[in-house]
Amino acid sequence: MKMRAAVLEEFGQPLQVQEVELADPKAGEVLVRLEACGVCHTDMYTASGADPSGYAPAVLGHEGCGIVERTGKGVSLVKEGDRVVTLFSPQCGKCEHCLSPRTNLCMAIRAEQNQGHLPDGTVRLSRDGEPIRHFMGTSTFAEYTVMPEIALAVVSPEAPADRVCVFACGLSTGLGAAMYTAQVEPGSTCVVFGAGLVGLGAVAGCRLQGAERIVCVDLSDERLELARGQGATDVMVGGPDAVDQILEMTGGMGADYTFEATGIVKVMQQAVEAARMGWGLATMAGVAGKGETLDIVPRFLITGRRVAGSSFGGVKGRDQVPQLVDRYLKGEIDVDPLISHSLSLDEVNRGFDLMHDQDGIRSVISFG
Ligand SMILES: NC(=O)c1ccc[n+]([C@@H]2O[C@H](COP(=O)([O-])OP(=O)(O)OC[C@H]3O[C@@H](n4cnc5c(N)ncnc54)[C@H](O)[C@@H]3O)[C@@H](O)[C@H]2O)c1
Ligand SMILES: [Zn+2]
Ligand SMILES: [Zn+2]
Repeated sequence: MKMRAAVLEEFGQPLQVQEVELADPKAGEVLVRLEACGVCHTDMYTASGADPSGYAPAVLGHEGCGIVERTGKGVSLVKEGDRVVTLFSPQCGKCEHCLSPRTNLCMAIRAEQNQGHLPDGTVRLSRDGEPIRHFMGTSTFAEYTVMPEIALAVVSPEAPADRVCVFACGLSTGLGAAMYTAQVEPGSTCVVFGAGLVGLGAVAGCRLQGAERIVCVDLSDERLELARGQGATDVMVGGPDAVDQILEMTGGMGADYTFEATGIVKVMQQAVEAARMGWGLATMAGVAGKGETLDIVPRFLITGRRVAGSSFGGVKGRDQVPQLVDRYLKGEIDVDPLISHSLSLDEVNRGFDLMHDQDGIRSVISFG
């Protein structure tokens, strides 16, 4: 079939919205009609050429929500008409990692996905016979996508697509970092560095876990105000003194849980140093630049602080994204303030500009 999609043709150049060819789903694959898709930093990072593992031409986009249009042979996990959230982090349910409660890093299709292929090593996207690769296994800056069934979470049909799409990446990453990776205990003191979608999600996750005190640190007063809306009890402008200020706020001890959601390694270091002696857990969600390293004075670890990394918030996508969406539908998670701009597919590059200017938290593309 023919459809419109935003293609990354050349790194550092705007995406080009154009007509491309999408082949039918093969065995285990599903054709999804996109309803909405968020614009995330990883799309912009890849488009810029800064990501050494990026490839082109490719259809970008990974924060998608849509409707199952058709299923390939042997598909049993989704059916026509289901509302689904796309998962760049799939859940096969069978590999060693899926069977362990300790991680969400499914191994089933990793190698091919990293190459921009579907699990059988081929692509469904093309233009004039020339193959186009699938970005993050999702390619949701498009009217339709073909994806493996293990990479689709079936969510409530009542869930509005232009809100629920952010559960495909940023929001779940933050919520999950607090709920699944750190497993924040009720009554805890938490500090979240960064108040973008990931950090605000972490604030909400700490609140849902029953944290007593939630301090959010960011550079923008506007974003800190949003953090209050998500449940932050204290807010603070970040900078070199952030650790000292947090120690002062916590009787010299530091926080039970800290979260880093900026992607800046100096801030990651602050998250470690602001964690409490004895049991403080510092969870890293931000993605650092290529080659950057995190400096930790070993004494911080000897004296009981721990460091964890969190990819997609440790969320096992097919099981837990629907649960998070249900909590949103019950009114426990306030998504509206996080969606700032509604765009058409043709305006996708404007989504990058808005993100670059930190204008709002998330722009969402709606497909008419
Ligand atoms: N682990 C994952 O699976 C995953 C998924 C999505 C995004 N990410 C990463 O998470 C990070 C956050 O994503 P986002 O969409 O929320 O980004 P964002 O750019 O919207 O938010 C980052 C925030 O950090 C703040 N900040 C900058 N310097 C600071 C400082 N010194 N102290 C405190 N705050 C500071 C900025 O003001 C901004 O509000 C990025 O690195 C992104 O790549 C990771
Ligand atoms: Zn993302
Ligand atoms: Zn798996």
